[in-house]
Amino acid sequence: TVKKPLAGRHVLVTSGPTHEAIDPVRYLANRSSGRQGHAVAAAAAEAGARVTLVSGPVAIPDPAGVTVVRVESAREMLAAVEAALPADLAIFAAAVGDWRPAETRAGKIKKDGSLPAPLQLVENPDILATIAGRSEGRPPLVVGFAAETDDVIGNARRKIARKGCDWIVANDVSAGGGVMGGTENTVHLVAREGGVGKDVETWPKLGKEEVGRRLVARFAELLA
Ligand code: C5P
Repeated sequence: TVKKPLAGRHVLVTSGPTHEAIDPVRYLANRSSGRQGHAVAAAAAEAGARVTLVSGPVAIPDPAGVTVVRVESAREMLAAVEAALPADLAIFAAAVGDWRPAETRAGKIKKDGSLPAPLQLVENPDILATIAGRSEGRPPLVVGFAAETDDVIGNARRKIARKGCDWIVANDVSAGGGVMGGTENTVHLVAREGGVGKDVETWPKLGKEEVGRRLVARFAELLA
């Protein structure tokens, strides 16, 4: 028999980049492929959970057995996440754009021989911090991801404190690693100080599918 350690649980996952519109044809984005987030969602479904995957624009297929909510911007992603709650486990793997244009132009900005006005940016909502900080309806287990280039563990610790989540899955995206957009990932699982479980686990380089399965197995243990 296949083990279904997340049977009866609702797992919420964010994945992919966000697109922040400048005008009807242009946007700010990043290089996230959505592979790691989608792999986590697929693994959670395999483990028996009901899964809601809130995904930014990606070019990869929907995972099997998962309800996918497609969004473009960070603000749409936050609204979709809030609409999907309550959840037993929330995993925020999306590469949410930190900033968006202060205004989205209704018409295409024309090339008319002079440069356009400089882009004014404003900060996007932090979805992970918003959900982890809820006094009511906070999922019992809230997990963030962190892409770091140096002091990976130290920065993960500070991120846990700043965002109020329980765990950070930290990956080293320093140049040459090929993590962002690639198919493999070397992750460190970092727990909140004084929280459940061991402080730091460093896993070998693994395919993103395998990372997804192992993460789901660990989180199922923590929820049990
Ligand atoms: O601060 P940083 O972007 O490195 O944090 C990464 C973590 O926070 C990821 O889990 C990401 O999904 C989440 N995040 C978010 N909303 C933002 C920025 C980051 O949910 N606006």
